[in-house]
Formats: sequence, C-alpha cells, structure tokens
Amino acid sequence: MSLRYDALKILSDGGFHSGTRLGAALGVSRTAVWKHLRALGELGLDIYAVPGKGYRLAQPVELLDAHAITAAMNDTARALLGGIAIHPRLDSTNTYLMQQAAAGLASGYACLAEYQEAGRGRRGRNWVSPFGANIYLSILWRFTLDPTQLGGLSLAVGVAMARALRAAGADGLGLKWPNDVLWQGRKVAGILLEMSGESFGASTVVVGLGVNCRMAKEAGAHISQPWTDLEEMLGRRLSRNVLAASLLNEVLPVLRNYQTQGLAPMLDEWQHYDAICGKTVTLQLPNQSITGVAAGVDRDGALLLTRDGVTQRHLAGEISLRVA
Ligand code: BTN
Repeated sequence: MSLRYDALKILSDGGFHSGTRLGAALGVSRTAVWKHLRALGELGLDIYAVPGKGYRLAQPVELLDAHAITAAMNDTARALLGGIAIHPRLDSTNTYLMQQAAAGLASGYACLAEYQEAGRGRRGRNWVSPFGANIYLSILWRFTLDPTQLGGLSLAVGVAMARALRAAGADGLGLKWPNDVLWQGRKVAGILLEMSGESFGASTVVVGLGVNCRMAKEAGAHISQPWTDLEEMLGRRLSRNVLAASLLNEVLPVLRNYQTQGLAPMLDEWQHYDAICGKTVTLQLPNQSITGVAAGVDRDGALLLTRDGVTQRHLAGEISLRVA
C-alpha cells in the first residue's frame, strides 16, 4: 500500500502526471506504476490514463493529514488528544484500537484510515468504507467507571457528532436512538462503541465514528439502508481534515465530561435532535419486536417506549429500531 499511497499523494493535486515521472519519483518502472494505479482503481478511486499526458485522478483527493487535523483543532481538544495516526488502509479503525488498547495506548488516542477493508457497524453489519471518500475515525478513552455506568455514552457521543456536523454547515440533522445521525430520514453518520479490557471500576472504550462525506453511488449501492452524504447535504465539497478536527473538538471534551457528569448535561440537546419522539416505532429485540410510541430517552440513555398507556425503558444492546 505504501507505494500506492505515495503515488496517490502525487496524484492528489488532480493534475496529469506521466508514467515516467511517477516511476522516477517512486523508484519503479512505468509498468509497475500502471499496475499500482490499477490497484488504486480497485479501491474505488477513478484514475484516467490519457496517452501523451499521463495519469490523473477524476477528482482531486484531499488525503488525511495529521498535521492539518491538529492545526485545525482547538486548544482544549488538543490537550485531550493522546496521539493521532493516519493509516492508508486498515481492516477497521475500531479493531485496530481495540488491539492497541491492550498494549497500553494512551487515553485520547485517535486513529483514522483512508480505507477500511472490514469496516464494522452496529449489530454485526459492515460499514462501507471506500478509499479517501469519508471519515473513519476511532478514539480510545479510558474511564474510571464501570461498564454499567456507560449506558448513555453513545448518546452523548451522538450529540457531539451532530454538533460537529452542524459546525460543518449541516442543518436539519436528527438523531435516531441510540445514535444514528440522520438527514431527511437518511443516515449520514454512525457510531460504534466497543469496550475492551473492562473491569470493576474501570472501562476502556473505543469510540468509532463513521461519517459519509462523498460516497460514490457504486459504493453506496452496498449500503442496506437509506443513506446520504455531507456533500449532497451541503451542496459543496468539504475538507475531511477540517471535519476530522471538528469531530475531535466536539467528541474529546464530551468523553472527558462523561466521566464526572454522565449524559445528564446533554439530555436536552439530545431531545432537541430526537428524530423519532412521538412517532410509532418498532423496536427489534433479539427474540421479539415491540411496537409503541417513542417517548424520548432517560438520563441513562434508555429509550422510553409507550405501549397501551405503559411506558417501558429499553437499554442499548442488540436492539434496532425501524420507524413504522
Ligand atoms: C453504525 O451506525 O452501524 C456504526 C458505524 C460505525 C462506523 C465506524 S467507521 C470507524 C470505526 N471503525 C469501524 O470499523 N467502525 C467504526
């Protein structure tokens, strides 16, 4: 990947580059250049070859850059950041950080990938992760809290994510319990929280954030639910580095504050974004489904569902929700 990634850095300006010049810069033959660029094409990047001119990306790509991200972060978030790494390709940023957590990685460490070979969503779904198109970001955070005290964390992170997307100019966002970010009923971003090495009075959490920025139609065809991306929402291109910084600006302080305050200070804001409150919904549990009227969430992050005049709490878990 490293040689292909180097080739991509050269092509990322959107201009033409001849096979000879690319070969000289990369230290390989023109034939090898062609093979590597063809492999990049298989990752979903559109590369044109024009005789006499060379190779060019159909669209310039802004590659992720740790310096650009940290430069766009605010001081508070920078102080909470335990380190940052950009990977051209990983199976999943969550899987990677879960493995690294055991090796003692610092709390606040952030990992981004340009491409995930096996991006993961909630409930065992896959997360479609084409190269250089979207944000795939995971953050490691260590709490001195029991896992049982983290029930509202995914909702708190959902609010942080909605704040970051608003800062990018996105209006009309909604949150679907527990933490899908929607726009006009279509999903634009999702969160996957995973625990690693939890014990009594301590939890290590990997917070995985996926934001669709510019999902090509061909890649999007593999998504099993209605979806959108930020470029469609905003009607313009956006900087993934600035968006990554904005996500870190919003999520890191929320993780810090959750330790002492829990979900409570964010509850009103969550209710403001609640996309299903008052609607009839079907909640799918592993062995049954329950239809009722969504009545918001409580301070532990449980969904409140009213059926036959009785309101019941439903905690996060292997649950999915479909608007009836
Ligand atoms: C969902 O809504 O189903 C959760 C999607 C979470 C996707 C992100 S992308 C970065 C991180 N790495 C993964 O494999 N998944 C999360």
